[in-house]
Amino acid sequence: MSSASAGTALGNGAQIHIQSRLHQTQATNFLNLLILDEDRAMRDASRDVAHSMGFSAHVADSAEQAYRMMESQAIDAVLLDLRLAGTSGLEVLRAIKRQRPETVAVVITGFGTVESAVQAMKAGAYDFVTKPFGTEELRRLLGGVAEHLRVKMEGRVRREQNRSRQGYGNIIGQSVEMEKLYRIIAKAGQSTHPVLILGESGTGKEMVAKAIHQAGPLRNKPFIPVDCGSLVPTLIESELFGHVRGAFTGATGPKDGLLAIAEGGTVFLDEIGELPIDLQAKLLRAIQEKEIRPVGSVKQIPINVRILGATNRDLEQAVNEGTFRRDLFFRLNVLTLRIPPLRERRMDIPLLVAHMLERIGRDSGMEKRVSDEALKLLLAYDWPGNVRELENSLERACALSSNPEIQIRDLPTHLSGRPSAIVEHSGNGIVPIAELEKRMILDAIAQVNGDKMTAARMLGIGKTTLYRKLKEYGAEN
Ligand SMILES: Nc1ncnc2c1ncn2[C@@H]1O[C@H](COP(=O)(O)OP(=O)(O)OP(=O)(O)O)[C@@H](O)[C@H]1O
Ligand SMILES: [Mg+2]
Repeated sequence: MSSASAGTALGNGAQIHIQSRLHQTQATNFLNLLILDEDRAMRDASRDVAHSMGFSAHVADSAEQAYRMMESQAIDAVLLDLRLAGTSGLEVLRAIKRQRPETVAVVITGFGTVESAVQAMKAGAYDFVTKPFGTEELRRLLGGVAEHLRVKMEGRVRREQNRSRQGYGNIIGQSVEMEKLYRIIAKAGQSTHPVLILGESGTGKEMVAKAIHQAGPLRNKPFIPVDCGSLVPTLIESELFGHVRGAFTGATGPKDGLLAIAEGGTVFLDEIGELPIDLQAKLLRAIQEKEIRPVGSVKQIPINVRILGATNRDLEQAVNEGTFRRDLFFRLNVLTLRIPPLRERRMDIPLLVAHMLERIGRDSGMEKRVSDEALKLLLAYDWPGNVRELENSLERACALSSNPEIQIRDLPTHLSGRPSAIVEHSGNGIVPIAELEKRMILDAIAQVNGDKMTAARMLGIGKTTLYRKLKEYGAEN
């Protein structure tokens, strides 16, 4: 890679003379190149060549100035003359690679100093050129750098695309809405502030919470979900904050609270809208003061935990109605993330179906696919129970049919009814979960000609549960 051949000679000290600007029109490549050279004429000449190739070229005449620029600019590549007064160019190269390892560095070495070129390559330089060299040589070098960065960038974009196809963690979806969500998840992962996750039932709130935890530096620490909706208030309190021995009847021994156990990790408060108001105050204090007091104790225990909350309720309305504390709402609402319902991102349906069938197929050892008509139906339906409902419908269909191809008749009957018929039920577009559940259960029994044992198995619930539910519906027979 040595010596000049064509073009203006560079690196010969005073005789450099580049004819004004090089007027080659070349599209900007958006790459930031930093030129570190103590020789002003060299700097300017290199900058002109880089400009003409579409680089944003920045120049520095000392290592210190270069380090400062590296801090303030997103530098992609560095052109570095190893011969610097007072410092070792090699050390500067190492410092640059330490500061930003992905920087592509090209070094300029003096004539007859092959050894320093070898050392530079060992220190992570991408390429080198020996003085004196010509503009053509420099163009070729920088062209190589741009191409290398382009390929690297493409690889990254491809990985990102694959990731969004597979989603974050196990989250599936590549609609614009989901892409937006992935970006927010990535950002939320980097912070330790509370996050409020909003979304209808079955949209994947817990999945997203897990993904936020996984995307951040706390990923190796515990992730502890707590369902604030299903526990009785006294139990939630002792679950979250812990208790001392004898704090209440039945507290035969001390117990650590989950907020303490999660040390350094994440506590996911599911259905946070259901948290009783006195516990809301206690939680707010825990978040603000970063300490908790176990039930029955007088001592405060320091905690170090990130809070993620989720709800399908309209918390703002709850605040206005006085059932949710405004101050806690503001605390949690630092970062809010809304997961769009499935009917607002129908393009994700085929992808979800493919993934779910693949999983079901793996579990059951039987390959499954959907017929075109069945897929059309899945695309047209409104999915009030969102992804969870889709998952259940497919599992049901697979359980019902021994045929490898799922047909319309294998899908729950209410899917093929007028979609709006379901919505009309409550008039506001929302179907109560209990109503959905009832339909699913009755549907399942109907599908297997009244065989309740099989229906219970298909639904993944116990026989007793099924009978209890039927009694609730007044549909025992
Ligand atoms: N984008 C998605 N990709 C793949 N699976 C999903 C997605 N969203 C949800 N699911 C699946 O749907 C089901 C429901 O997800 P999850 O429990 O996270 O939802 P949720 O919003 O917490 O629901 P609920 O309000 O009922 O608690 C899970 O089985 C989950 O695996
Ligand atoms: Mg949930």
